[in-house]
Amino acid sequence: MSHPPKKATAVAHPNIALIKYWGKREVERNIPAVGSLSITLDGLATTTSTTFDPGLTQEEFMLAGKEAPEMRRRVAECLNLVRSRTGTSGYALVESENDFPTAAGLASSASGFAALVVASDRALGSRLALSELADIARHGSGSAPRSLFGGFVELRLTPEGVHPTETRQVLEPSAWPLRVVVAVTDTGKKEVGSTQGMLLCERSSPYFGAWVESSPGDLAEALAAIQRRDFEALGDISESSCLKMHAVMLSARPGLVYWNEATVKCIHRVREMRAQGVPAFFTVDAGPQVKVVCLAEAVDHVATAMGEIPGVIQTSESGLGEGARVVED
Ligand code: DP6
Repeated sequence: MSHPPKKATAVAHPNIALIKYWGKREVERNIPAVGSLSITLDGLATTTSTTFDPGLTQEEFMLAGKEAPEMRRRVAECLNLVRSRTGTSGYALVESENDFPTAAGLASSASGFAALVVASDRALGSRLALSELADIARHGSGSAPRSLFGGFVELRLTPEGVHPTETRQVLEPSAWPLRVVVAVTDTGKKEVGSTQGMLLCERSSPYFGAWVESSPGDLAEALAAIQRRDFEALGDISESSCLKMHAVMLSARPGLVYWNEATVKCIHRVREMRAQGVPAFFTVDAGPQVKVVCLAEAVDHVATAMGEIPGVIQTSESGLGEGARVVED
């Protein structure tokens, strides 16, 4: 007897880390070397459908209607984990779309894998716990478990726990509705991807050990600042975590220089604005785009200022969003 295809669709938003994840404790299971803390954005979204179809003879993955072979291995790994934890079999067709172009300067892998595990779980009717889904999403991308949750999110290492990492919501979006302006300074693909960059830093940066050692203190400081809604303190520790990560990148051999001229101009501009009383701080990931986190009252001012910087191609604004969820089944 043949079974009909089982399909479900989920939506997830990208997130940006304030306390950064950089480095792997274990490559095989993609266990990060450090914990991290992020905010989930609203506005931008990834929609992913998973269809388990007995008619398929292999896994299929389509991104914006086109095959994306570079992602296939990690997608299959996540699907294998969902199947093994639910005792099911059969190949799936995964179709994913971003409503934001890659040129928006935000990584889509976190939202992509978060939406993938939520859709796959629903399609199979397995109702895995959120902690299981987070563990599976991590195999797709270390930052993906954070997009399962909304608002402020912490991913911590729990070597003694059931899973090697645990992810939880620290504050819901409405509890401290910060805004984010993304300044895009380059629309090209990044030269060295995160995984490759992390492994290079681990192998060759003399600062890598210090980075890992100082991370728990940074996380604790950021969490305390969030609890107090202390924007200045959160900005201070977030910029420090970002610059420290880039110091590790710069000190690898060969050094990883993700910034361009406009990236540096944006950083200086944010600091100038802050000196003039504008509540804003910056963060930069493994690429040249600058994300400026600010209080709602400052968002128009920040967006205009960023847009005027030579080399900034476009800016976009976002608030804080919800975690990944099923939209259709
Ligand atoms: C700089 O999650 O993309 O954005 O686990 O290798 O897929 P993999 O890495 P990924 O790394 C994100 C790195 C970062 C910082 C962060 O988001 O915490």
